[in-house]
Amino acid sequence: MRQWKRKIANKEVVVGVLGLGYVGLPLAREFASAGLRVIGFDIDEKKVKILNSGRSIIRHVAHSQVRQMVKTGCFRATTDMARLKKVDAILVCVPTPLTQNREPDMQFIISSAKTIAKYLQPGQLVVLESTTYPGTTSEVLAPILQSGGLKAGKDFHLAYSPEREDPGNRDFTTGTIPKVVGGLTKKCCDMACALYGTAIVRTIPVSSLEAAEAAKILENVYRCVNIAMVNELKIVFDRMGIDIWEVIKAASTKPFGFKAFYPGPGLGGHCIPIDPFYLTWKARQYGMPTRFIELAGEINTSMPHYVIAKTIEALNERKKSLKGSKVLVLGLAYKKDIDDLRESPSIELIELLRQKGAKVDYNDPYIPRTHKQRQHDLRMTSKKLSARMLAAYDVVLISTDHSDYDYDWIVKNARLLVDARNATAAVCGAGKKVVKA
Ligand SMILES: NC(=O)c1ccc[n+]([C@@H]2O[C@H](COP(=O)([O-])OP(=O)(O)OC[C@H]3O[C@@H](n4cnc5c(N)ncnc54)[C@H](O)[C@@H]3O)[C@@H](O)[C@H]2O)c1
Repeated sequence: MRQWKRKIANKEVVVGVLGLGYVGLPLAREFASAGLRVIGFDIDEKKVKILNSGRSIIRHVAHSQVRQMVKTGCFRATTDMARLKKVDAILVCVPTPLTQNREPDMQFIISSAKTIAKYLQPGQLVVLESTTYPGTTSEVLAPILQSGGLKAGKDFHLAYSPEREDPGNRDFTTGTIPKVVGGLTKKCCDMACALYGTAIVRTIPVSSLEAAEAAKILENVYRCVNIAMVNELKIVFDRMGIDIWEVIKAASTKPFGFKAFYPGPGLGGHCIPIDPFYLTWKARQYGMPTRFIELAGEINTSMPHYVIAKTIEALNERKKSLKGSKVLVLGLAYKKDIDDLRESPSIELIELLRQKGAKVDYNDPYIPRTHKQRQHDLRMTSKKLSARMLAAYDVVLISTDHSDYDYDWIVKNARLLVDARNATAAVCGAGKKVVKA
């Protein structure tokens, strides 16, 4: 341990980050900024090329930061997995999606584990960061890593430390979000804590791999359930003629015992709509139902249908049908100020609108065109906003409340707005032009 700490203090440790996406790249940046040498590994050649040329691949990591990392020699990306032999720690940040049947899709964890196993060296530290169900590190990762004969906790070190990345969050970045760490052994945990301590503000050691895995799942279930609750209340209060947004604002004045969550057109992103179902799947092996998660999932996935119903109602009031109407969806990203459209409710909204015969366009300043998703392929390009084009749509649907939008101007020029994010709340005289959904 002393030798490991000395190596870290002397900045002689080389960190390998496997998977250079929304989680892996910011993590690599933190270690590189702390003066450690980082090798980023990815199977995506295009991504690796872009990064090595000093450009970023995601909005919330600036080109200038990547340029600096590359220029100082602190960071290099590669597809050459044999170089895993050269690093002291391997931090695994690969995707953990759901299969078509909404079960954990472990293919990325398994394939990266197989790659690491091929090059694993005695003394190396392997940390899984991907969000997953409790038991993954010891039940899935460890056996594959040990297949070459090295024993976890003895010949190499194994830990789990969940990523808590929140793209677009202006108050926190990867380096300022405390990190929970669980190890296979105490030494594994201590080694991981010592390493993260160089780049992350605080580490929180827990007693086991499973406790760390469960902590991450708890965080995401907590959000998923609370968002579902306000989504349901939104519909109930709307029927009563009460504005949920005003209610949340009022309740938020309570200085204790209340944390505000906000309704929306549905749940999006790589985490909240997906991760809770990792636990559901695992709980089934123990004969346990996860009723809160199932119910929250049911409510959250029904929200795009509610927004569509409100849109139909709003058009109906104007003696129009959705069929044949021109609809502009504002915001494609799953939340404001980011460029990630994975699981975005806007996609579902566009598909539902199209199914009902509407002619749909979208605008998103951060997503110039759609790319193929695992289950969707919209094949659309973002339309440039102008006063004339806004007025040409029967209805403008605000699905993502990007800060760059000028809502006064949008309200002024659109004929009818359906606002699923309360983005127009501060616009004077929005009045009958805006329908909250
Ligand atoms: N995106 C977020 O905001 C966020 C936040 C917290 C946690 N997480 C979790 O972090 C994990 C990663 O998510 P992400 O959003 O960064 O995903 P991502 O899709 O943005 O990036 C994953 C990267 O891994 C690469 N990859 C896949 N298989 C590989 C392999 N075998 N070897 C090397 N590289 C491989 C992909 O090419 C991709 O570049 C997931 O478990 C996710 O749930 C994500």
